[in-house]
Amino acid sequence: MSDYDVLVIGTGAAGLTAALTLANCGKKVAVLAKGKLGGGATEWAQGGIAAVLEDEDSFDNHIKDTMVAGAGLPDRDVVEFVVERAPAAIARLAELGVPFNLDTDGDWHLTREGGHSHRRIVHVHDATGWAVAEALEKAAVMHDNITLLPNMVAIDLVQGRHLEDFSTSGEVYGCYAFNRGTREIETLCARATIMASGGAGRAYQFSTAPRGATGDGIAMAWRAGCRVSNMEFMQFHPTCLYNLQVKNFLITEAVRGEGGILINPESGERFMKNYDERLELAPRDIVARANDAEIKRDGLDYVHLDISHRGPEFVKEHFPTIYDKLIGLGIDITQEPIPVVPAQHYTCGGVVVDLDGKTDAPGLYAAGEVTMSGLHGANRLASNSLLECFVFGEAAANHICANWDDLPKARNVKAWDESRVTDSDEEVVIQQVWGEIRRFMWNFVGIVRTTKRLQRAKNRVDLLRKEVDEYYSNFRVTPDLIELRNLVEVADLIIRSALRRHESRGLHYTLDYPETDAEAVDTVLVP
Ligand code: FAD
Ligand code: SIN
Repeated sequence: MSDYDVLVIGTGAAGLTAALTLANCGKKVAVLAKGKLGGGATEWAQGGIAAVLEDEDSFDNHIKDTMVAGAGLPDRDVVEFVVERAPAAIARLAELGVPFNLDTDGDWHLTREGGHSHRRIVHVHDATGWAVAEALEKAAVMHDNITLLPNMVAIDLVQGRHLEDFSTSGEVYGCYAFNRGTREIETLCARATIMASGGAGRAYQFSTAPRGATGDGIAMAWRAGCRVSNMEFMQFHPTCLYNLQVKNFLITEAVRGEGGILINPESGERFMKNYDERLELAPRDIVARANDAEIKRDGLDYVHLDISHRGPEFVKEHFPTIYDKLIGLGIDITQEPIPVVPAQHYTCGGVVVDLDGKTDAPGLYAAGEVTMSGLHGANRLASNSLLECFVFGEAAANHICANWDDLPKARNVKAWDESRVTDSDEEVVIQQVWGEIRRFMWNFVGIVRTTKRLQRAKNRVDLLRKEVDEYYSNFRVTPDLIELRNLVEVADLIIRSALRRHESRGLHYTLDYPETDAEAVDTVLVP
């Protein structure tokens, strides 16, 4: 058993921000990643971070854009809290060495994305996440108070029922984790645990999210008794590269922000004018649905995104990562359009937290994509996600430091019990079930929904849950099994939330309830 002051599950933007803040206030922190340190979505972020950084813009504008994109559902207090802290978050990152692009006058170079009424996205070319992750990891590696633990897969949170003197307490004392090196299950104890484990995009067949986005933190917190909210709002990005070799490469929204246009490859029509007066810069849910509608109506494989009219110099300077990647695939984006399709991109719902990142379980905090903080509502505004990670990572850490004496102390935690399980002789079940979930989620719980399709998905998930539960209780856990168990849980949460919402709002669009209700209400599932 290892003891730390604080355990952070996740080494993305949220986890490392929290860890650095805690370490600076003197806490000994262990930070887990289930694979390599940079294996989350943070490294893959392209477009940038939204922040009001010039006089012509204002907090009010950023707040309004967030509320409009979120279809009236975001919590205004939370939006204000985050937007007002954005400039300080950017300043801290710059201090850590993130080389944000500047214009020729030495001011921030701000790009634009859908749903933003101003240029407001600070960025490092088209590889912002990579630069941010590098700076955060470097600072964490150098900090004496931080122990980084890659290749440790958290399985479940430790609570009263795991103590030698059993109790029904919901307090969280750390977690059990599978060590990929030793293949042993370790007990990691701490006074506070921060869940920063990212989203659940891999519940869908086509997703821009990394392989590990299996909703582990949402499922763990749910099993630990925490409320989960707004899981029906799965965000689909309108422009994921369509390529048979490369399945999940994003084409940043900044391409449209810098003048990229969407074209139906069959008719040659610039079609967004038929869907929204903001054209290609309408919020993401609208553009994703428009692409989906064109593809389905004309039986296309993809639509075209064209930025070639901006000229080779501009395109290569602004989008070097995309240019290099696509030239390697035989597509010269300075000369020809990019074939794109919508794909799952972001999990707007998650574990309910307050402004201090507190969940319903004492001792458990959460930050980043794993949460439902109230910021995104029914649809996340582009580039508000990394921002949420920085603001809530810091808020959770600050609350822990300020309330240290009130946090639960771990006592006599039982070791993981493997006495009644054996090694699996049927690994094929895991791949089969995983594939089934991702396919029916794509087909039945996708961009356009109906109650009948959701019911079909619910029947299937109920059946698969039984199989996975049985498998889990008979066999020794492996990383794949841990992820599959969580994937079934989050698929169920998404479907149940979608079935509960009898209206279309933001990312939840259902043919059975096409209207939007007058009152905006969160979907809250209680364990
Ligand atoms: P992540 O960065 O996803 O990190 C999750 C961490 O949790 C990882 O370290 C992982 O190993 C760990 N973990 C997960 N499960 C376990 C477990 N069971 N045990 C131990 N560790 C675990 N947002 C923006 O604001 N701007 C952008 O430009 C932008 N571009 C994007 C581009 C792409 C392709 C994608 C996929 C997303 C983009 N987003 C963007 C969204 C944004 O990147 C993510 O929402 C954000 O990075 C999430 O950060 P996080 O810290 O919450 O989680
Ligand atoms: C993008 O660069 O298009 C992604 C931005 C985001 O997800 O916020």
